[in-house]
Amino acid sequence: MPVDILVGTQWGDEGKGKLIDVLTRDVDMVVRFQGGNNAGHTVEIGENRYVLHLIPSGIFRKGVKCVIGNGVVADPVALQDEMLKVAACGFDVSELELSSRTHLIFEYHKRLDRVNERSAAVKIGTTGRGIGPAYTDKMRRVGIRAVDLLAPERLSEKFRAEAAYANKVLSACGAETVDVEAELAKVLAAAEYLAPHVGNSTYTVNEAVAAGKNILFEGAQGALLDIDHGTYPFVTSSNTVSGGACTGSGLPPQAVRSVWGVLKAYTTRVGEGPFPTELFDAAGNQLREVGREFGATTGRPRRCGWFDAVAARYSCMVDGIDRLAVTKLDVLDGFDKVAICTGYEIGGKVTDQFPASVEELASAKPVYEWHDGWKTDISGARSWDELPENARKYLTRAAELVRSKIAIVSVGPRRDQTFSVEK
Ligand code: IMP
Repeated sequence: MPVDILVGTQWGDEGKGKLIDVLTRDVDMVVRFQGGNNAGHTVEIGENRYVLHLIPSGIFRKGVKCVIGNGVVADPVALQDEMLKVAACGFDVSELELSSRTHLIFEYHKRLDRVNERSAAVKIGTTGRGIGPAYTDKMRRVGIRAVDLLAPERLSEKFRAEAAYANKVLSACGAETVDVEAELAKVLAAAEYLAPHVGNSTYTVNEAVAAGKNILFEGAQGALLDIDHGTYPFVTSSNTVSGGACTGSGLPPQAVRSVWGVLKAYTTRVGEGPFPTELFDAAGNQLREVGREFGATTGRPRRCGWFDAVAARYSCMVDGIDRLAVTKLDVLDGFDKVAICTGYEIGGKVTDQFPASVEELASAKPVYEWHDGWKTDISGARSWDELPENARKYLTRAAELVRSKIAIVSVGPRRDQTFSVEK
């Protein structure tokens, strides 16, 4: 049963889009199972750079079936827009399938997201895409799903009722309300475009499993942003860990062959929340500039810091990582010394466990182990042996600390700047 899950093991932006693109060479199907267009998966093919927000990254490979699973929250207008853009670049979107059980995001969710950010005591620094409010509606059991796109009258009735409710909340908060009929018109136009793509994807996925197809589940964000396992409340509203692939698509757990973890060679975070190894100095700026660490969805500069092995080991444990793909190792090329955080000092005690309390995490002082840098351009390396010795030592130590095996190393944004590690 060649079913693999690929997830981010940090706070997102680990380079999952590129890895999915590389791994989809031999894949029949790619499935998104959580999150929405808060994600920004970048794929570079030749001279061109594409950023996908909702469409699975397999779309650039001919013949790969792409499925948006029930665990995703999809903005129908944004999805239509993205499909048209991808099609205009010459890629085939005709086989893209949207699960009929996928919950939908509308304009009022985006406005509620912004209002929450303005008025909440704790600012999360969301992407403003309406993710949290859409998942809230799902849990309140008032969400509108992709299956409703197939019945315009039912869709209109539900939309009017929910938009009216959201408008009451928005006006109570002093925020601008939505023009219900104008928004509904946009939604109905998107519904007409998307209707042929709506399918009972739980069967699509399970039939592909039964037929022995190669399937890759594409995680968005990262384990430390998981609603249950991440740095709550500074998290996204979905289950980003590998377990989410099952609930977010209808995949039975025993169908899973292995779990890939994407791990950036250093750490970044967007939005608010504790980040023990964050750097506020020239080293942090160097990581941001060299690593082009600006949000693919929002353009926000990412917070940057040294590799945090405490956080990564925790993620790898929760995700059950079998193989790691280490990305952006080349970004460390210019450093004389590179650090790995091996423990946190919290309240005078050193621990190697990731705490549940964000207050504790915010107070954690990283315990660093320093390694000599390699000061060589590694972007042309195409094998483990072509890496400088210090880069190999750094990776070997990182893998040992997170207790996982490195199977792929990426040394640049292009498809060809990737190699398998056979040791
Ligand atoms: P939301 O997902 O828009 O609700 O944002 C919640 C938190 O998750 C914020 O800190 C965002 O910056 C972060 N976040 C959401 N999506 C991504 C992503 O794809 N990469 C990195 N951070 C993300």
